[in-house]
Amino acid sequence: MKQHVCNARLAFAMYHSFRKHIQDPAAILGEYVMPGATVIDLGCGPGYFTIPIALLTGASGTVFAVDVQEGMLRKMEERAVQAGVRTRIRPVLCTSGDIAVREPSDFVLSFWMAHEVPDRAALFSQIVAVMKPDARYLLVEPKFHVRKKRYGRIINEAVAAGLKPLQEVPVPLSRAMLFGV
Ligand SMILES: C[S@@+](CC[C@H](N)C(=O)[O-])C[C@H]1O[C@@H](n2cnc3c(N)ncnc32)[C@H](O)[C@@H]1O
Repeated sequence: MKQHVCNARLAFAMYHSFRKHIQDPAAILGEYVMPGATVIDLGCGPGYFTIPIALLTGASGTVFAVDVQEGMLRKMEERAVQAGVRTRIRPVLCTSGDIAVREPSDFVLSFWMAHEVPDRAALFSQIVAVMKPDARYLLVEPKFHVRKKRYGRIINEAVAAGLKPLQEVPVPLSRAMLFGV
């Protein structure tokens, strides 16, 4: 199946400083990411969330930064080095059908990513498989790309894979749901 992914050459747009005023990573993720946690950032792109997550986990935490595009991972790594958190981050080049991480995790994030994945049933099953019993998964989709109906279908696919919707989360410009297992 042909997959449309966000172009790595447009990565700067995902890192533009004005985004921090609209989507502050620490404000969005602060209550879910604890020091020492193992976190998976699925579709990490150039690391807009990866690096703040690594700051939240601290030196004892591990962040798997997963993307299908090597160019995105390279940009993420450059920024991680600049921020002094590179050693906490494990870059993972995955395929569109396999997240390629098997580590039991405390928190999984997919920010504006799931709508780009052709086989979401597989994606959500793989997320369930890596979640520790009390782990949380935050699914965030862009409001302008993913209309209400399509978002509803994505939530249904997540539920069918075994994810339990816990609460809607207010994220600017987005539709977002917090899941447990
Ligand atoms: C719109 S960007 C969002 C990047 C980042 N999460 C952010 O909010 O800045 C979507 C990212 O998901 C990645 N992606 C798409 N399909 C994927 C898949 N099946 N597995 C992992 N990453 C994927 C793309 O390469 C791209 O970097």
